[in-house]
Amino acid sequence: MNKKIAILPGDGIGPEVTEQAQKVLSTVAEIYGHQFEMESALVGAAAIDATGNPFPNATEEVCKKADAILFGAIGHPKYDDDPKAKVRPEQGLLAMRKKLGLFANIRPVTSYDALLPISPLKEEIIKGVDFVVFRELTGGIYFGQPRGRSEDGNSAFDTCNYSKEEIIRVSKLAFESARNRRKHVTLVDKANVLATSRLWRETVQELASDYPDVTLDFMFVDNAAMKIIQNPRFFDVVLTENMFGDIITDEASVISGSLGMLPSASVGVTSSLFEPIHGSYPQAAGKNIANPFGAILSAAMLLEYAFGLNDESELIKKAVDDCVNAGFVTEDINKENPKSTTDVGDKIVSIIKELSTVNS
Ligand code: IPM
Ligand code: MN
Repeated sequence: MNKKIAILPGDGIGPEVTEQAQKVLSTVAEIYGHQFEMESALVGAAAIDATGNPFPNATEEVCKKADAILFGAIGHPKYDDDPKAKVRPEQGLLAMRKKLGLFANIRPVTSYDALLPISPLKEEIIKGVDFVVFRELTGGIYFGQPRGRSEDGNSAFDTCNYSKEEIIRVSKLAFESARNRRKHVTLVDKANVLATSRLWRETVQELASDYPDVTLDFMFVDNAAMKIIQNPRFFDVVLTENMFGDIITDEASVISGSLGMLPSASVGVTSSLFEPIHGSYPQAAGKNIANPFGAILSAAMLLEYAFGLNDESELIKKAVDDCVNAGFVTEDINKENPKSTTDVGDKIVSIIKELSTVNS
C-alpha cells in the first residue's frame, strides 16, 4: 500500500514522542511491504515562532494532501501564563479541527493489568475496563458565536449551539462502533438544564431506531463523572458533546494508569488525524523521558482507522502490551527503573520485528 502521512510534531514533548511513532510506522511498512511517505509540517507554538500563525497555510496544504495525519502535542507555557496573548498555540489545534472538518474525536479507555498498581483507583474497580468515548469535536461552546466581552469589558459570553446534522454524524459513528463491541451506547448530556442537550437526546433517540440491536441509555454529565470512577466497566460506547467530552476523557485517562498511554483519533469526511491525548508537557521537553506509548498507539489507530490495516495495527498494540508487561516503561510508570523515550521506541521496534518473524 502507498500512502502519504502528514507529520505534525508540534510543541514540547510532541517531536520526541512522534519520532518514536514514525520509527514504528517505518518498521511496520518494511515488514508488510508498504510505502509510507511522511512529510513534516509546523503547528502550534513552533509555527507561531516561525510564521506568526499556529496553523499556517503551508501546514494546511500538507494535511489536505495527506491520507492521514499524525500529530504530537500543542502548547507552550509562555502563552498559558499570558491571558492577553493575541495568538495562542491552541488556536492552531482548533483551526485545524475546524478547517479539516474533524468532527468526531474517538478516545479509547482501557486498563493495562501491569499498570493497575500505579493507578490511584482500586484495582478491583478498573481491572478489565474497556470503553470508548465519541466526543463531538467541531461544534458546541468551543466554536459557537457570538462570543466575547461586553463593551465595558466587565462581562463575557460564549455560545453553545448544535444542529441536528452535527449530532447525527458523530452519533452514527458511535452506534456503528457499538455494533462491533458490546452494543451499548450511553449519551452523556445535561438535558435537565441545557437546550442543546435536549436536542441531543431527542436526535439520538430518533437515530437509535436505526440500530435496534444497540442499547441506548442516557446519563447526566455530573452523574457520569461519578460513575466513570465508581463503576467504569458499566460503559461501552460513550457519546457526548465537545466540552463534556473534553472533561470526561481527561478524567477517564486516570484509569489507564498514565495520561501518556492513551491515543486518539479525530475523524472527518476527508481527513483524519491521530494524536496522543496528553499535552505538550513542556517541563519534560528535550529530556528524553516522555512516554511515547500514546503516540505509538495513535500510529496503530491511524493504520486501523485511516488505512484499514488491522493486522499491522494489532501487531503494534501487541508489542505495546508486551513492552508494558515486561516493565520496559518510562518514568511516569516506573520511577525506580525508568527507560528513556528513545529506549522505549527502540524496544517496540525490536518487539515488532520479533513478533513478525514468529508469526511468519
Ligand atoms: C484536547 C485539548 C484541547 C481541547 C485544548 C488544547 C484546546 O484539551 O484535545 O482535549 O480542549 O480540545
Ligand atoms: Mn482536553
